[in-house]
Amino acid sequence: MNSRTLTSIVSYPERGEGGNNRYRGNCSPKLIEDLIGFFKPLEICDYMCGSGTTKAAADKCGIKSRLYDLHSGFDIVNCEIQERPEFIFWHPPYWDIIKYSDVMYKASDVESRYGYNPMQFDLSRIQNWESFVEAMNYAMMKQFASLEKGGRMAVLIGDIKKKGKLYSMLSEIVKPGSLENIIIKTQHNCFSDNTTYSGSFIPILHEYVMIVRKDNSLIIPVIAVKQSVTDMRDIKEASWKDVIASVLEECNADVPLSYLYEQIENHEKTKSNKWWKEKIRQTLQCNPAHFLHTGRGMWKLNRSAA
Ligand SMILES: C[S@@+](CC[C@H](N)C(=O)[O-])C[C@H]1O[C@@H](n2cnc3c(N)ncnc32)[C@H](O)[C@@H]1O
Repeated sequence: MNSRTLTSIVSYPERGEGGNNRYRGNCSPKLIEDLIGFFKPLEICDYMCGSGTTKAAADKCGIKSRLYDLHSGFDIVNCEIQERPEFIFWHPPYWDIIKYSDVMYKASDVESRYGYNPMQFDLSRIQNWESFVEAMNYAMMKQFASLEKGGRMAVLIGDIKKKGKLYSMLSEIVKPGSLENIIIKTQHNCFSDNTTYSGSFIPILHEYVMIVRKDNSLIIPVIAVKQSVTDMRDIKEASWKDVIASVLEECNADVPLSYLYEQIENHEKTKSNKWWKEKIRQTLQCNPAHFLHTGRGMWKLNRSAA
């Protein structure tokens, strides 16, 4: 059995033997060997096994493995997990960065062998980020629920940049159980290594291995992201300066005091202060670096203020 120790940063410049390095998005067997060496499970399950890297690592470490994938008749959404795993390694697609069905394997072959078109269930073919996150989190909870008490999931995920926007799998993945570790894994030999980026794009050169543990059978803590939109005028932590500056920032011309009253009235900021109009006037007058008095009762934002 592999006896290397794990640290919070791992790096495998040499991929190692096992699985198939031509299967796009494959991972290094060394990572799985290290996970097995550290946590010492007797068996490892992988429900998105791709080219079979997990089996190669398990064989090398002398433990059993159970492998499944959409290409071999198993769809994580519609198929039942038969076993009660002790350790799951999960390496989902990084959204649609690499497409699997009908690219890495023929959809028609899967259909003739297993009776379904894999393209309809493939996580890498989900069109929008929100639906991908929903499917990813469904798969996460389903796998976690199948774990035996004391069992673990090691999840290899990455963040994605598209057209200047960050899509963070790590931030948005649901985290059931005890969040035991987040390991940074440096990336090597990836497709984008040869790309040069312009402007303020910071290339992503790492992935994460998130490890969660199931400490209780019935009652489990869950960290889940809830998306929301809020209005600056309703944020109780925002100062009067912040609220007034935010309103003025949206105006292209000087505005009268009455406009500021109208815009701020009925928002949370005014509810806790019956002298809110006085507070607005005082804030405008006391912050000449931010607010310019341009005429009788007229104000604008000093856009050059630091
Ligand atoms: C990142 S790859 C795994 C690579 C693997 N770790 C390796 O080293 O070869 C993700 C895999 O998820 C599979 N997949 C996508 N959607 C799936 C689904 N709904 N159910 C099961 N597997 C799915 C794809 O077929 C693909 O093989």
